[in-house]
Amino acid sequence: MTAERQGDAFENLLHEERRFPPSEAFAANAVAQPSLYDEAREQGTEFWARQARELLTWDQDFTETLDWSDAPFAKWFVGGTVNAAYNALDRHVEAGLGDRVAIHFEGEPGDTRTITYAELTREVKKAANAFESLGVAKGDRVAVYLPMIPEAVVTMLACARIGAVHSVVFGGFSADALRSRIDDAEAKLVVTSDGTYRRGKPSPLKPAVDGALEKEGHTVTSVVVVRRNNEPVEWTEGRDTWWHDVVDGAPEEHVAVAHDSEHPLFILYTSGTTGKPKGILHTTGGYLTQTAFTHRNTFDLRPETDVFWCTADIGWVTGHSYVTYAPLVNGATQLMYEGTPDTPHQGRWWELIEKYRVSILYTAPTAIRTFMKWGRDIPQKYDLSSIRVLGSVGEPINPEAWMWYREVIGGGQAPIVDTWWQTETGAHMIAPMPGVTATKPGSAQVAVPGIAVDVVDEMGVSVPDGSGGYLVIREPWPAMLRGIWGDPQRFKDTYWSRFDDMYFAGDGAKKDSDGDIWLLGRVDDVMNISGHRLSTTEIESALVSHPSVAEAAVVGASDETTGEAVVAFVILRGSAKDDDDIVTTLRNHVGKEIGPIAKPRNILVVPELPKTRSGKIMRRLLKDVAEGREVGDATTLSDPTIMQQIAVSLRK
Ligand code: WT7
Repeated sequence: MTAERQGDAFENLLHEERRFPPSEAFAANAVAQPSLYDEAREQGTEFWARQARELLTWDQDFTETLDWSDAPFAKWFVGGTVNAAYNALDRHVEAGLGDRVAIHFEGEPGDTRTITYAELTREVKKAANAFESLGVAKGDRVAVYLPMIPEAVVTMLACARIGAVHSVVFGGFSADALRSRIDDAEAKLVVTSDGTYRRGKPSPLKPAVDGALEKEGHTVTSVVVVRRNNEPVEWTEGRDTWWHDVVDGAPEEHVAVAHDSEHPLFILYTSGTTGKPKGILHTTGGYLTQTAFTHRNTFDLRPETDVFWCTADIGWVTGHSYVTYAPLVNGATQLMYEGTPDTPHQGRWWELIEKYRVSILYTAPTAIRTFMKWGRDIPQKYDLSSIRVLGSVGEPINPEAWMWYREVIGGGQAPIVDTWWQTETGAHMIAPMPGVTATKPGSAQVAVPGIAVDVVDEMGVSVPDGSGGYLVIREPWPAMLRGIWGDPQRFKDTYWSRFDDMYFAGDGAKKDSDGDIWLLGRVDDVMNISGHRLSTTEIESALVSHPSVAEAAVVGASDETTGEAVVAFVILRGSAKDDDDIVTTLRNHVGKEIGPIAKPRNILVVPELPKTRSGKIMRRLLKDVAEGREVGDATTLSDPTIMQQIAVSLRK
């Protein structure tokens, strides 16, 4: 988005006068009290040391809270040792909470499993033993390509227990995308399933793993396959093992050895501004501290009584932090659902909330907008009175969706916490505290206690209230990424070179007259499609890898439901024909190269692309076309008639 357009969007938001303070009763009993902000301010990094000791059980206490001497490479809780799986599991069982439900699982076809902390601990120990029997050791990488089933959580925690580094790849990514992630991380083991269920039908996963490993030259020695949908699968003897063969009979005892606080916990790939996805690296102590802290405070968590439901897939960071790690570290009960919201009917989510008495719901604006479209009479058929806190994540939430969420889902009562953060930040960074902040529809508002965010201008100078600029983080934070896997230089270049001594998030933001922060979307070539990050360059590379395409430019155009949608402009090679077939072919090609989520909504065949004299594509102009607006200032184009040529060709 250009600064100018962001400004316009912001002017509209500025007319937002509504304020929703927490009820007196909520405020009085809230987990996070106003004093939390004071403590954070007064104590500096020691605030986090206190949180780390309160929220986690350390095997060996740390001796230094933060070592920033090798900035931007941080070390948190230096000298401490801790095991993530022990903190998520064993210690709760040792404390007598073994019978508490950890996961209520609901499969798409309606099959259910209730898994207590004692049972989950046993499963994870068995899986850890099984993975070790396959040769996985501390530091090895394990690729995880699984649907939303309990084995996904078990696999991640079993890796953490051993000290193996998991790299979860979203099940919607293609075989090629999976392969490049396996190669980059040099994974030894892949854990997958025969498939899952999607919209009432079995949907395969294993073929993508087979496809990914088809060509020689990879590092994978074993593939463990969970049986989920009973569909027939291809089998590679010597490489493939069924989960039930290797895990079910594995020994039930497994000692969780504590790892260094800075031991790598996981790698998660995310799109950057260049073609190649970045392997974001997170480590143990700091990540667990901040995810547990935010989960407790942002959601006002009461582990004894709440039923928490984060609807994100474990393929994204939200699923890592707020499905696998924080809820279990905090000893909470959560719901896990495998399927889509419209199967077998559009009331499925609300039916689940009623059935399990879900009290905290955490989801994305794109889902909320979809439900709005389906109509309020659907959720209104269900008893949603158990809900007491609502969370939003992934993209700016428009005030209309915010109000609908509050009224229709939250009964006009439940506070909404709009949480801004990123794969890189690991945990919430900007969010209201539900018992403290008077919320504003559409704004994430304030930094989490202990976090230093700011909005700065081009020169890196803090902007006054009422102005906009770039979102930065001024101080290191516990759950920050520790680097990009195998590419320290790219880590520095991407996040730490735009401004001196500040982390550049890639988002535009404004401070309103109260100093509250409004997020305005990415300022780089990263798109946000249904809360998922995709890079324009990555999709352009996929398009030009097709023999019919000479050149391609991709923009994110605003979309009522998905926030942004992928719109591609392509120039065909001389011999290729411009017809419906080529559009379908190219959409499928992108699906194969990256995954179905990256398929462009529209592909427009054009004679030329608008470029500056230095050859840079002017995406701003293409965005105007994609959004059906009058085209903006085109005077810096090398050939100013190009936009007319494009308009003419599109009218045809
Ligand atoms: C980008 C990070 C955080 C987990 C899901 C996405 C956008 C995220 C918000 C929000 C406005 C948001 C930003 C950010 N974003 N949350 N509450 N309000 N924008 O993680 O894939 O790493 O994407 O998502 O643009 O940079 P991600």
